[in-house]
Amino acid sequence: MRHHDHRHDHGHSHDEGLETLRQALSAEAWNERYSGSDRVWSGKPNQRLVEQAKDLDPGTALDVACGEGGDAIWLARQGWEVTAVDVSEVALEKVAIHAEEAGVSRHLRIGLYDALSDPRPAGHRTFDLVTVSFLHVPIPDFNDIYRGIAEAVAPGGRLLVTAHHPHDVESGARHSHGDGLLFEPERVLEALGVGTDDSPWVIEVAETQDREQAMPEGPMKVRDTVVRLRREG
Ligand SMILES: C[S@@+](CC[C@H](N)C(=O)[O-])C[C@H]1O[C@@H](n2cnc3c(N)ncnc32)[C@H](O)[C@@H]1O
Repeated sequence: MRHHDHRHDHGHSHDEGLETLRQALSAEAWNERYSGSDRVWSGKPNQRLVEQAKDLDPGTALDVACGEGGDAIWLARQGWEVTAVDVSEVALEKVAIHAEEAGVSRHLRIGLYDALSDPRPAGHRTFDLVTVSFLHVPIPDFNDIYRGIAEAVAPGGRLLVTAHHPHDVESGARHSHGDGLLFEPERVLEALGVGTDDSPWVIEVAETQDREQAMPEGPMKVRDTVVRLRREG
């Protein structure tokens, strides 16, 4: 478990800013968002997941911060045995319904996961693929959370991290999600100590990749951070 002593240290504007960022990662905030409409996201899998996972041999997969389950259901359709976790039970209820509709319920289980209270999602070195798409967390929490998530990768398994790149704020494609929330591939590599002597991780992909995304104001060029690592041994 992590320690959150500084969470109770009120009175500094820096901490209040951090508290606001963390509040945006609460079950309350996301349940409200997911209750507001039938589908917040498209239901389609993320392009980066499809690109990065389509040639992998199916095994067990964990989709962290799965949202409404577009990625998890796609993985189940490809033959993976999927566990999908998120902080929002409203989102998880939708995943269960969509999995039923897609006929993959037997291959998809759901679970509650709050990265801020315990960064380890499920299992210890058990999943052949752990994927996390667009989970942007405050910098002080980043290392604990991404290390916790990486713990779930089995020996020989893969970690896939997809995120919005900070360039999107500079280019005007996105409003800031808050201080430092968007990140470059290097932040993941540093958090996991990739490249250090005793690191178990092999870099398969660590890139920024551009794509077009439909936005309310029309198609925009956006940039993703894509990191795919394999745990050796
Ligand atoms: C931008 S959405 C991405 C959803 C999905 N991965 C996708 O790509 O469509 C971020 C997701 O992170 C989840 N989330 C937010 N805070 C979280 C937390 N503290 N622990 C776990 N998941 C969280 C939200 O409920 C939401 O589903």
